[in-house]
Amino acid sequence: MPVEKILQDLKDDHNFRSLPHLKHEGKFVYKEGKKLLNLASNDYLALSYDKELKEEFLSTLKDENLFFSSSSSRSLSGNFEIYEELEDYLKADFKDKEILHFNSGYHLNLSCIAALSSLDKTLFLADKFIHASMIDGLRLNRTNFFRYKHNDLDHLEFLIRKHYEKYENIVILSEALFSMDGDFSDLKALVELKKTYPKIKLYIDEAHSVGCFDKKGLGYAKFLGLENEIDFLVFTFGKAIASMGACMICTKKYKDFFINKARAFIYSTALPPINVAFTLFIFKNMTKFQNKRENLYRLSQNFKNKLKEKKYQILGDCYIVSLILGDNKKALEIAQILEKGGFFAPAIKEPTVPKNTARIRFSLHAGLDQNDLNPILELL
Ligand SMILES: Cc1ncc(COP(=O)(O)O)c(C=O)c1O
Repeated sequence: MPVEKILQDLKDDHNFRSLPHLKHEGKFVYKEGKKLLNLASNDYLALSYDKELKEEFLSTLKDENLFFSSSSSRSLSGNFEIYEELEDYLKADFKDKEILHFNSGYHLNLSCIAALSSLDKTLFLADKFIHASMIDGLRLNRTNFFRYKHNDLDHLEFLIRKHYEKYENIVILSEALFSMDGDFSDLKALVELKKTYPKIKLYIDEAHSVGCFDKKGLGYAKFLGLENEIDFLVFTFGKAIASMGACMICTKKYKDFFINKARAFIYSTALPPINVAFTLFIFKNMTKFQNKRENLYRLSQNFKNKLKEKKYQILGDCYIVSLILGDNKKALEIAQILEKGGFFAPAIKEPTVPKNTARIRFSLHAGLDQNDLNPILELL
């Protein structure tokens, strides 16, 4: 199909993406000169615009980390000491595990899942709503995989039993806190399944939960005390950590495997040391953010309850609150109403979410208070 036709079809479907021109100022963005409260970022702890924090970081930054490029892959000369400092720092809280830093969550999921899928007799069972980066990892090698209905463990167990005898490894792919529906996966139940079916390995993406759970911000699995049961635990640093990058937490055997076989790790210039130093700085300060985590949780429950009182269809267990609107046009209309009222909360449409579940995804953060959100209830 010609490109012109593809673009026209997207427009006809109210599904054409274009980039908004934005200027950022604290928790606000300016769009075409209009000041809007930004409810579309994943800056859950509101650290990205914390000036004091950034100044403190810069004042303690060592010269050896003042590099805006690593100028090479880590496999060659790009492996600055700060990478290992960060990996060692995180490792201290994960018994028997090693840490491997990647340039982004997308790089990590794509290349680690592709690497795992090259192993003989390995089957992937993926929650229907896992992030595109994991799906792309599965597609890269045209791997055999099946998807189970979102958070439906009966369906998952049915698939496990059906395929168990044919495979040596069954890797279950899920997110700790789902990016679009904002709900938790039942990690305890997944760990129980692993005990019943020893061929199972758990691959859990904590992109939206790292920073926000556990006193040291080490994620939802850690908060539940299940971190040692997860074979492949993924943190990303571009959301609550307000930095960039990601890491894989796994055994040394798999760390060595990914260093050798994860192509996005091998064939891409490593992130600048200054960025990695910022990630480490944030983790070292994590215990100070407990108030933020508690405020975020309270605020989210309050906002959700108010929307529910108004009988809206709401999804989300905590700070990702999705208002389900159905078709793309309706979601675009509501996004426009919100924008006129001073809020930046764009419509989320397929393929990011399933067809006919277009929505406004309110991404709440610790820098908000209830008064910031009350006008939304009047606008809807
Ligand atoms: C669940 C999940 N995993 C991975 C990623 C990719 O992470 P990154 O933005 O660091 O590439 C995202 C980003 O949106 C995500 O939501």
